[in-house]
Amino acid sequence: MRYEGVLDQYKGLVDLPAYSQTITLLEGNTPLIPLPSLAKELGGEFELYAKFEGLNPTGSFKDRGMTAAISEAAGRNVRTVICASTGNTAASAAAYAARAGMNSIVLIPQGKVAAGKLSGAVAYGARIIQISGSFDDALSLVLEMSQKYPCALVNSLNPYRLEGQKTAAFEICDTLGSAPDWLCLPVGNAGNITSYWMGFQQYHRLHHTGLPHILGVQAAGAAPLVLGHDVEHPETLATAIRIGRPARAEQALQAIEESNGRMVAVSDQELLTMQQKLASEGVWVEPASAAGLAGLAAQIREDRIKVAGKRITIICTGHGLKDPDIITSRMAVPPVLPANLHALDEVLNTLTET
Ligand code: F0G
Repeated sequence: MRYEGVLDQYKGLVDLPAYSQTITLLEGNTPLIPLPSLAKELGGEFELYAKFEGLNPTGSFKDRGMTAAISEAAGRNVRTVICASTGNTAASAAAYAARAGMNSIVLIPQGKVAAGKLSGAVAYGARIIQISGSFDDALSLVLEMSQKYPCALVNSLNPYRLEGQKTAAFEICDTLGSAPDWLCLPVGNAGNITSYWMGFQQYHRLHHTGLPHILGVQAAGAAPLVLGHDVEHPETLATAIRIGRPARAEQALQAIEESNGRMVAVSDQELLTMQQKLASEGVWVEPASAAGLAGLAAQIREDRIKVAGKRITIICTGHGLKDPDIITSRMAVPPVLPANLHALDEVLNTLTET
C-alpha cells in the first residue's frame, strides 16, 4: 500500500476540520531503531529503541504537526503563515508553506539558530526576521502579530500541530505492539511531550496499548519545568531547546503527573556525550535530541529508574545535520597528505593496526 503521510495513515484519529486540504511531504513512518549495545553499556538487560524523527522530510519531528497545521490553513485559503522558532519549526513551516503555495514568515533569535536549520528556512523560501531577543520574546511577538495581521500562527499553540505530532505515539505502539514502559524525550516549548501523551492516551482508549511513564528532559541552563519557574535568560548549546517560558508548560507537567513520570535536567556536557554515543551506533542527532538518552542514563546511574526487563524508547527529535558546527568546531582537522600511495602507506599502517 502506498504511504501518504501521517494524516492519511491515521485518518479518523487526527482531529482536523472537514474543510482541511491535505498538504503533505510524506512525513512520519520513521524507524524505531533498536540499540542493544547501548542498553548493555547503560547497565541493563532491557530493550532500548530510538525513534529517529530526524528522518522526517525537513529533518525534524516538526513535520508531523506542520502537515496538520498547514492542511487546516490551506482549507481556509490562508496566504501567509507565521511562527517563532529556534530553527526546526521555521524550516518545517517554510517547507510545508512552500508546498501549499503560501508565504511563511519566521522570527528567530539572532545568532542562536543552527546552520542546518537557518539554511533550510532560506532554501524553502521563508521570510526570515531575526530579533535581538530570545525564542520566548519571539513567540510573544508572533502571537500578537498573528492577531493583528492576516497570517496564521503555526507554532504548537496551534492545536492542529499537536494533532499531527501525536501520530508518533501511534507509530511506536504499532511497531512495538504496545506502548513502551518509558518514553524519554527533550522538552523545550513542551508541545511534543503534550502531543505524545495525547497520542498514547488516545491509542490506549482505542486499542488497550497501555501507557508509558514519561521522562521529560530539559537542558540545565533552560529548565523552567524542573525549577518550577520561568528562566529569564535560558542558555544551552542545545539551541533547539533554549527556552525559558514554555507555552505548554501546564500540559507538560500534567503529562508527567498523569503518567507517573519525571521531569529532569541534564548538563550540556551530558548532551554532547550522549550525542556521541548515539553517533557511535550510527544514529547522528542534534544535541537537543540526545536529551532523552542523557536523562535516561542519569536516572539509571542514580538508580531512580529500574530498567531490567523493560522496553524504553528515546525520541531523537532532529537530525545531526541540523547543527554541523557543534561537530566541526570541536574536531581535529583531518591530516592532509600528498596524493600518492607512498604517503598513504605509513598512515594506513597505523590506522589498520587494531
Ligand atoms: N528537539 C528539537 C530538535 C527541537 O527543535 C525542539 C523544539 C524540541 C526538541 C522540543 O520540542 O518545543 O515541543 O518541547 N524546537 C522548537 C523550534 C522550539 O522552534 O523548532 P518542544
